[in-house]
Amino acid sequence: MSSINLTPQRSETKLVPSLSFIIVFVVVMVAGAFAFLSFMPLILPPEASTQAQEVDRIFGFMLFIGALVFMLVQGLLVVSVVRWRARPGDRGDGPPIHGNTTLEAVWTAIPAVIVTVIAIYSFTVWQNTRVIAFGEQSVGAIGARYAWTFNYTISQDDLPAGIDFNALKPEIQADLTDEDGVITFSATKLYTWVGQPVVVRMDAADVNHAFWIPAMRVKQDVLAGRTTEIRFTPTMAGSFRVVCAELCGAGHGNMAGELVTDPATGEQYLTGAWVIVYETEEEYLSQFFEPTATTNLLPPDDPVLVGRQILASGKYPCNTCHVLADLNWVGVVGPSLNGIGDRADERAAAGGDADATAYLIHSIRHPGDWLVPGFGNLMPQFNADSDQTNYMPDSDLNAIVAYLLAQTAAAQASAGSTTN
Ligand code: CUA
Repeated sequence: MSSINLTPQRSETKLVPSLSFIIVFVVVMVAGAFAFLSFMPLILPPEASTQAQEVDRIFGFMLFIGALVFMLVQGLLVVSVVRWRARPGDRGDGPPIHGNTTLEAVWTAIPAVIVTVIAIYSFTVWQNTRVIAFGEQSVGAIGARYAWTFNYTISQDDLPAGIDFNALKPEIQADLTDEDGVITFSATKLYTWVGQPVVVRMDAADVNHAFWIPAMRVKQDVLAGRTTEIRFTPTMAGSFRVVCAELCGAGHGNMAGELVTDPATGEQYLTGAWVIVYETEEEYLSQFFEPTATTNLLPPDDPVLVGRQILASGKYPCNTCHVLADLNWVGVVGPSLNGIGDRADERAAAGGDADATAYLIHSIRHPGDWLVPGFGNLMPQFNADSDQTNYMPDSDLNAIVAYLLAQTAAAQASAGSTTN
């Protein structure tokens, strides 16, 4: 005989699950939290600086804790719903539960410990990402509605090796010797290179902005009337977005800039050519020197052109006595150099020199040994030792000889047909 049980029944399910159930539950929750971490690279910009590595480590740590708490709360909810659900015919109430002081102390203590650990860890990362590095490249940044401008300064030490200070443009000389001792130039991009610590010193031209390079994981307010700084060391070559992160007006959304990290730029810098913003060393130097000085500083590879530059520069006074159409020399005291390349062999034979090159070298080092018929012994002797008068180094001599050998009637005719 069946009867309907109308008295309330209590669920028979145990309140505390078995140890093996708890172990499986915890393992699944921790695995779930790690699964969250695996999505991290998908939601972040490239990790392109040493600071980004540190920031991402703490971000991962906090994401893991957050994911674990999420998994535990949701997991307990699911387990409770399934395990302690009302069975068919179960009309009873749950067991009465009173306060549990131990449990409350535990769930108060755990968040307190977590927050303290995160606070200490964050402070450490904050300090580490702001350490002043040795050999920092200092760049100025100006935030103005709605663009970024970067200012680079160079001192005399930053000029490429072997540059003659006196050959610099007068205004550059003045800038390098005034109280700042630097030249400043501006660019619309922030240029640096992989492995170079950078400090950006930021000023606002109008309202407040915020300087943010997501890939470097650095962001700092740019405040009117105060200079703020950020530091980063790029670890990845490429071009990265600079973003304004402070609502500054109607064009705020377009206030983007660009950071360019080029490994080659650093190499060029370290080998002496201070090339940051300029494509070529010539372009960089051209702002410091008059064009002719630039070519003298950066001699061409062809010795003929080097020789021509040396003679055209007036370093040696050959023009006062010789005729040479190519350089517009009109001296008449010495023999003409027009077509000397055609005659040098013949002269070598007449004077007892091995070949045309030997003849020209002999004629410059010891001009009195063999005179061109009809001319007196008037030419100064150009010496190979730096402690002698009329010093002419071998490098100059060889280039001049190469140039003179190229002065043939044929070369002159072809030059004449194009230039005259
Ligand atoms: Cu500048 Cu927003």
